[in-house]
Amino acid sequence: MTKRQSALVDTRVIYCGDNLDQLPKLPDGCIDLIYIDPPFNSNRNYEVFWGETKEKRSFEDRHASTAAYIDFMRPRCVELARVLKETGSFYYHCDWHASHYVKVMLDQIFGENGFVNEIVWCYSHGGKSGRRFGRKHDIIFFYAKSDRYTFNGDSVRIPMKSGDTSFGGRLETDETGRKYRLVYGTKDKQGKTKYYKYYLDEGKIPEDWWTDINSLQASDQERLGYPTQKPLALLDRIIKASSNPNDIILDAFCGCGTALEAAEHLGRQWIGIDISPTACHVMAIRLKKFCRLREGEEHWRTGKGFIVRDLPWTEAQLRKIPPFEFENWAVIAIGGIPNKTKVGDMGIDGRIFPVHTLPEKPGKKKVHDHLDFEFLDDWYPIQVKQKDKAGRPDIDSFEAAMMRADRAKGFFVSFDFSRDAMREIGQFFKRSGKIIIPLTVREILDEQIAAKLA
Ligand SMILES: C[S@@+](CC[C@H](N)C(=O)[O-])C[C@H]1O[C@@H](n2cnc3c(N)ncnc32)[C@H](O)[C@@H]1O
Repeated sequence: MTKRQSALVDTRVIYCGDNLDQLPKLPDGCIDLIYIDPPFNSNRNYEVFWGETKEKRSFEDRHASTAAYIDFMRPRCVELARVLKETGSFYYHCDWHASHYVKVMLDQIFGENGFVNEIVWCYSHGGKSGRRFGRKHDIIFFYAKSDRYTFNGDSVRIPMKSGDTSFGGRLETDETGRKYRLVYGTKDKQGKTKYYKYYLDEGKIPEDWWTDINSLQASDQERLGYPTQKPLALLDRIIKASSNPNDIILDAFCGCGTALEAAEHLGRQWIGIDISPTACHVMAIRLKKFCRLREGEEHWRTGKGFIVRDLPWTEAQLRKIPPFEFENWAVIAIGGIPNKTKVGDMGIDGRIFPVHTLPEKPGKKKVHDHLDFEFLDDWYPIQVKQKDKAGRPDIDSFEAAMMRADRAKGFFVSFDFSRDAMREIGQFFKRSGKIIIPLTVREILDEQIAAKLA
């Protein structure tokens, strides 16, 4: 669909990067509708590396870091409020982990009067526990910047079930056979009571609890394999209700692009932001496949396509950058922390710390808000070699470093590994029980590690 571009801001653009860095590129008051669905734990690679069950880790993280999550989200929501038009609407998708904290934060940013709805999205799929009632709903907060926000309730009407109770009263039938219910209102000036006829076949504007949209299942056609993908029907309802054709929709945590696809189908303009290059890649495929849009500057300029901006390093670029930059890139990309000094690093370029780490021995310095990683005993070393193929000697020296530091597991990053290097990794495990995980740059770029270890 060819659409008019906004004069204020480029649309049909996916920005790859942290939204805190990307949002300042957008002018004040340029967006009609914002939907966000941020992850509770923003570092996906952490989840992958710990080797514990995902369930356990995310549970621990979540309890340890609700405050950290709100600290992370607050400046981003302030930026989002800035780019929202005075007539705009803002939807924040979350769940029981942080919803109460999120509500307080949004009241502070938009004002308590900015609150419009707390939508409870109910579903029934997924795991259940015998120890409690199933946690089977998400919360979607809906805020508006002023009372001039768009609300097209009629465009999202849902069918009413027939029957007395679900329709809320006794049904009448008019002369054409249509069923309706009479609802009495206030008296007018003549003292007559006003009444309204609600026809069964006209449906109703949904209430703030939604039970008619289920979460995506493995067998669903629209499922792309992205773990947190939301159903198109959910975004369809939000976009139809809270925007008009050609309005600009922004999803600043857009994952595999559900909001973008829904916006495109509904003739809206859109902007997406995601920090993960893999997510941006998946989105691009999705827009090409399901919206028949073409990717590239030329198509974008003529209104028939979209572009992805600010994609990070390619493998070829990474081969050329200075070694210390490469080391920093690799360590950060796998969720670690680079060593502060490069001198005397004893063959270790960075470390990965579990989020829940506490000092091993009681009586040692406690870890407070002000994290000093030197005091954490629980960490895994990372070694990085900007080589076409890391060889056996590279592995030997990393093994020595792991022995010195007495670490059970370590990560080695390079462009590739020789056969000898791989064999040595196996033998080292047999000899010492210590594990070296070889990661290639390609794997990191594709986040294939996530798929491999999940
Ligand atoms: C829960 S997913 C969104 C799923 C999306 N609603 C969908 O249906 O596909 C959250 C996304 O936020 C992205 N993300 C996390 N931190 C970010 C940040 N600081 N800036 C931009 N995107 C971020 C993650 O890469 C992830 O793709």
